[in-house]
Amino acid sequence: MTTRVLTGITTTGTPHLGNYAGAIRPAIEASTQPGVDAYFFMADYHALIKCEDPQRIARSRLEIAATWLAGGLDVERVTFYRQSDIPEIPELCWMLTCVTPKGLMNRAHAYKAAVDQNEARDIEPDDGITLGLFSYPVLMAADILMFNAHKVPVGRDQIQHLEMTRDIAQRFNHLYGRGNDFFVLPEAQVDDEVATLPGLDGRKMSKSYNNTIPLFEGGAKAMKSAIMRIVTDSKEPGEPKDAESSHLYMLYRAFATPEESAVFRRELEDGMGWGDAKQRLFERLEQDIAPMRERYMELMAAPQRIEDALQAGADKARALSAPFMERLREAVGLKTSSAALSVTTGRDASAGTSEGKAGRKKPRFVNFRDEAGQFRFRLLDETGQQLLLSIQFGNPKEAGAVIKQLQTGDPDAFISTRDEQACLVVDELVVAEFSAEDLPQVRQALATFIEA
Ligand code: TRP
Repeated sequence: MTTRVLTGITTTGTPHLGNYAGAIRPAIEASTQPGVDAYFFMADYHALIKCEDPQRIARSRLEIAATWLAGGLDVERVTFYRQSDIPEIPELCWMLTCVTPKGLMNRAHAYKAAVDQNEARDIEPDDGITLGLFSYPVLMAADILMFNAHKVPVGRDQIQHLEMTRDIAQRFNHLYGRGNDFFVLPEAQVDDEVATLPGLDGRKMSKSYNNTIPLFEGGAKAMKSAIMRIVTDSKEPGEPKDAESSHLYMLYRAFATPEESAVFRRELEDGMGWGDAKQRLFERLEQDIAPMRERYMELMAAPQRIEDALQAGADKARALSAPFMERLREAVGLKTSSAALSVTTGRDASAGTSEGKAGRKKPRFVNFRDEAGQFRFRLLDETGQQLLLSIQFGNPKEAGAVIKQLQTGDPDAFISTRDEQACLVVDELVVAEFSAEDLPQVRQALATFIEA
C-alpha cells in the first residue's frame, strides 16, 4: 500500500530557518521513504487571502519553490506543483463549497479570531473579513481531496482544517457516492519529533514575531548576524551554562547529530562563552546550509528552470486531477459530452501549462501513480488531450523505459491493430490499448518524438 502524503505552503513570505527545519526538511525526508507518494505544492491561491501585493506573491512563489528544490526534493519522485496551475482545484472547491454547511465555517479558528478582534474593538463583527478568509478551509479541503491524500503533515494550528476536510469529504461521499466513496478521509500528521525552532528571543520562530533567522536570503552574512543577536542569559565565559534551557542549544540540536549535540552541550556546561557558542552554531548551520544556498542562488538566477520543474509537476498532477474531476462532474450531474470535452480539455490543459513557454505545444508523455499505487503514463496530444493510457507498471523505471522506447523507435514498429482495437506493443508486451479510430493521431504524436 502506498501512502499519499500531501502538504502545501502559503506563498506570502520568504522561507526562514524555522520553515526549513519544521516543514520543508521533514517533508523532503518523508518523501524518500518507501511506500510514500508525496504531493508538495505552493498554496498561491491561499496567498491571495492574506496578501494583496502581487509582487510579494510572485517573489514568494519563486523563493519557496527554489527552497524546496535547493533542499534536495526529487521532483521525479514526488509531485511538486503550484496550486494555481491546477484548474481542477478551484473547480472542486466550488463543488465542496456547495455541500459545506455555513455553520461549520462559522466555527473556524481563523475566522472566529478575526471576529473576536473586531468585537474587542467595538466594530462590526465581520469588518474587513472577506469570503476568501471565511471559506479558506474549503479551498484547503479541495487541495487535499483532489489527490485523495491519506496523510497531511501540518502544524497544530491546522488540525481543525483537517477535521473540516473530513466532514466535507464525508458529506460529499454521502450525497453523491452511492456506496462508492469518492474521497479518502485524510488525517493530520502533527509530528512532535519535528523541530519547532525557537527564534532570536526564544519564542517560536515566526515572521509575525519578527524573530527569524534567514535561511538563504542575505547569504551567510545575514544568517550570522541574526545568530549573533540570539538572546542569551548574562553568564560570563568560564561560567557553566544550562544547555537545556538555552535556545541556542535547541537550534544547534535541530541540525547536529546526537553525538555532536552531546559535545556542544558538555562544552556549554564546562563554561564555553556565548560568543564562541554562537560562532560554533553558525559553523554547524553553514555545513548544511551553504551547499543548499549555492543551489538556491543558482535557481533564483535561472527562474525558467524553476518554472520548467513546476510545469512538469503540473502535468503530472493534472494527469490525476483532470480525469478525477470528470468523474466528480458526472457524479454531481455536470457530465460533459465527449465532443464538448475535447474542446474543454484542450483549452484547460494549455491554460495550465502555457505560462512562460509558448513553444511547448507538443505531444508529450506524462507519468503518474494511479489510485492503486501503480505507475502508468498517458500520451497527450499537443492540446493536452489524452490519446492513450498505459497499463499499470510495478515501478516508475519500467514505465520510464517503455516511454523511452516509444520516443525513440519507429512508431509503426509498436502499433498493432485488430478490428476496432489498436494497441502499442513494446518488447512483446501490450503497453496500451486504444480505439483504432485514434490511430492516426497516435502515430502522428509518436512521430513527433523521433523528428525532434
Ligand atoms: N493552510 C496551510 C497553512 O497555512 C497551507 C495549506 C493550504 C495546506 N492548503 C493546504 C497545508 C493543504 C496542507 C494541505 O499552513
